[in-house]
Amino acid sequence: MFAIAQSGLIREVVAAMQAFTGLGSFDPVPSVEQSKAVSITVGRKSPEAEFSGALISPGASLPDEVLVDWESLSAAGFAAGVGQTLILPQAERPTLVLVGAGPGSDLDADKLRDAAAAFARATESSGNLELAIPDTGGVTPAVAAQVVVEGVLLARYRFDALKEGPTVTPITSLNLVVEGRRSAATKRGAAKGKTMSEATQMARDLANSPPAYLTASRIAQVAVDIGPGRGLTIEVFDKDQLVEMGCGGLLGVNAGSSEPPRMVKLIYKPAKPRGHLTLVGKGIMYDAGGIAVKPGDAVHATMKNDMSGAAAILAAMSELASLGCRAAVTGYLMCTDNLPSGTAIAMGDVLKVRGGKTVEVANTDAEGRLVMADALVLAAEEGTDAIIDIATLTGAAMRALGTQVAGVIGNNAQMIEQVESAAAATGESVWELPLEHRYRGELNSDVADIKNLGGPNAGAITAALFLEEFVAGLPWAHIDIAGTAQNDRDTSWRPPGCTGFGARLLIELALNFSRPRA
Ligand code: BES
Ligand code: ZN
Ligand code: MN
Repeated sequence: MFAIAQSGLIREVVAAMQAFTGLGSFDPVPSVEQSKAVSITVGRKSPEAEFSGALISPGASLPDEVLVDWESLSAAGFAAGVGQTLILPQAERPTLVLVGAGPGSDLDADKLRDAAAAFARATESSGNLELAIPDTGGVTPAVAAQVVVEGVLLARYRFDALKEGPTVTPITSLNLVVEGRRSAATKRGAAKGKTMSEATQMARDLANSPPAYLTASRIAQVAVDIGPGRGLTIEVFDKDQLVEMGCGGLLGVNAGSSEPPRMVKLIYKPAKPRGHLTLVGKGIMYDAGGIAVKPGDAVHATMKNDMSGAAAILAAMSELASLGCRAAVTGYLMCTDNLPSGTAIAMGDVLKVRGGKTVEVANTDAEGRLVMADALVLAAEEGTDAIIDIATLTGAAMRALGTQVAGVIGNNAQMIEQVESAAAATGESVWELPLEHRYRGELNSDVADIKNLGGPNAGAITAALFLEEFVAGLPWAHIDIAGTAQNDRDTSWRPPGCTGFGARLLIELALNFSRPRA
């Protein structure tokens, strides 16, 4: 357990909340420990389970316990579409659940993950499940097991650490029923699915944590606490060190806050690494907009999630060692909040970022790109084969692509493609936007080398053009998760609230990373 954030006024507020709620302490990654306790087995049907699901395509042969035919099932409204379930109580445990998987010929990993999520939702009162996975043809047994485990565990996630008790029953055991010859691959896939889910859950917990609980120093402490046990070297840079290093972007955004900034560097270095990937994450613990304070609307109310990029990196990197990643990966988390105050940066201020470029602050609410600039320069100085950044960067990306698709923009087709294939594997959708240099002039400043704001249109693109200035021409792709970091509805394996988008994508990307060819 970690102690509550301890500093300044925030400490008093949190202490008051604790007294009021009776919460003694708060662990920013509670669900990870919970999910470590999940037992996943592969084998025969077991009488231990409370609910036994069977993934079924329309017209496929039915489990023996089903005493009616397809005609009766259709008459009852069950057509085995993805997301459909039918509970069939039995004289003895377990209760049978038919879980629609859609037509066998269309079956893919995304549909299996969705179907498994529907199963977990239909059985919400039980933590003790079993699911039979048919031979899936187009999907290998390992991938089928992986995505089914992801669907079940991620659909059951709730951020209830600050509630009196759990709001859904946590999964304690999941038995996957497959034919014997598929069991080795199923076990392997299930283990990966559990690890991937843990990463997403950690990212969700971090992003869902209220800003007074998860401050910049606190997320750094989380990295220090968990990193070494997970094969990572962690370096934390405080305000004095950031001043020393000339990180004026992060320091400038932090100027309005009573909470100090932190840059967290995470280093994963396997023996004989195959390539070196650097990840840069936006870690705005809370984005009030700075002096350009945001209106008190529903979007503003989600701004505790403005560190979702940093959370995705910390969560993903936490699992690289356990998954045997062969690439070296360096991560930078750029952490501060963005608050208005008498010491905050003003419109028109000029910041000098790492490396010396000056930036006119045309809008204090375009803060993400300011903190990212320092890290991109550091990454380029250190040298790396490619840079991926991930950030809740622009409302414009959310306008363009909605809440289910993230934007990807970059200067290198191979890196874009690696992001796209990782996204396809994890069901975290991305769509490429153009790095359109004809808009670059919008960032010209009269007083500084560049300004942090483009014109009224194509905001996701001008933000990316700003970032590109700092990558020194290295292969780079930027993922804008402003829309996908938050789910307003309850859909499939994405409960409402922070989604943890990107954690699994970054793992998949790192596992399959190949150095871009010149
Ligand atoms: N964190 C926001 C982006 C954001 C907006 C994320 C909505 C999720 C939902 C970012 O720092 C921001 O405020 N961007 C401004 C930029 C503008 C001032 C150029 C925006 O998008 O409005
Ligand atoms: Zn922001
Ligand atoms: Mn902002």
